[in-house]
Amino acid sequence: MDRGKPQSLEELTRRLHEIFESNDINVEEVKEVMESYKSTRQDWEKFAKFDKLRYTRNLVDEGNGKFNLIILCWGEGHGSSIHDHSNSHCFMKMLQGELKETLFDWPKEEGGQMTERSHSILEENKVAYINDSIGLHRVENVSHTEGSVSLHLYSPPFQTCQVFDQRTSHKSTAQMTFWSKYGERTPLTRGATKENN
Ligand code: SIN
Repeated sequence: MDRGKPQSLEELTRRLHEIFESNDINVEEVKEVMESYKSTRQDWEKFAKFDKLRYTRNLVDEGNGKFNLIILCWGEGHGSSIHDHSNSHCFMKMLQGELKETLFDWPKEEGGQMTERSHSILEENKVAYINDSIGLHRVENVSHTEGSVSLHLYSPPFQTCQVFDQRTSHKSTAQMTFWSKYGERTPLTRGATKENN
């Protein structure tokens, strides 16, 4: 049944809840519904919190335990490490501005430079998809003048991922933390844990 385009982020979230009731996820269906939502700043601005130093991860919805819906805010020049997705699906939709996605092969061994496979620019409203069988990626806002905002869906949700040093292929574990949850700043945690941003 064609139910038309979601008219708001709230409606998109409801649709995603329905889709993820099933355990058989159709990647194209999720991509299509995310792409058909036309980004409207008023829908998401309360979640969009920027930090001067690095990109922020802002939790929007916990998807009944099936997925996490997160808004990422990327200041000028901010980028992620090269990382995997802990055996989860990763959907990434642009809400504002652009992001560069660079794909890498899984390293065969440590010690050498990682192999860059391709890169692309994700434009407003477009959706990209990756999982571990496709490879690894780095996401960056390469603009010197504009911030970018993206909406990410991870299913199942995960708390850690593997990050890779481009020069040596050395792998380590990073924590996925939230800068805010449901529009509220999360308490600051002090510690030596490595993060992805
Ligand atoms: C991504 O994997 O798409 C971005 C990195 C993150 O979730 O922190």
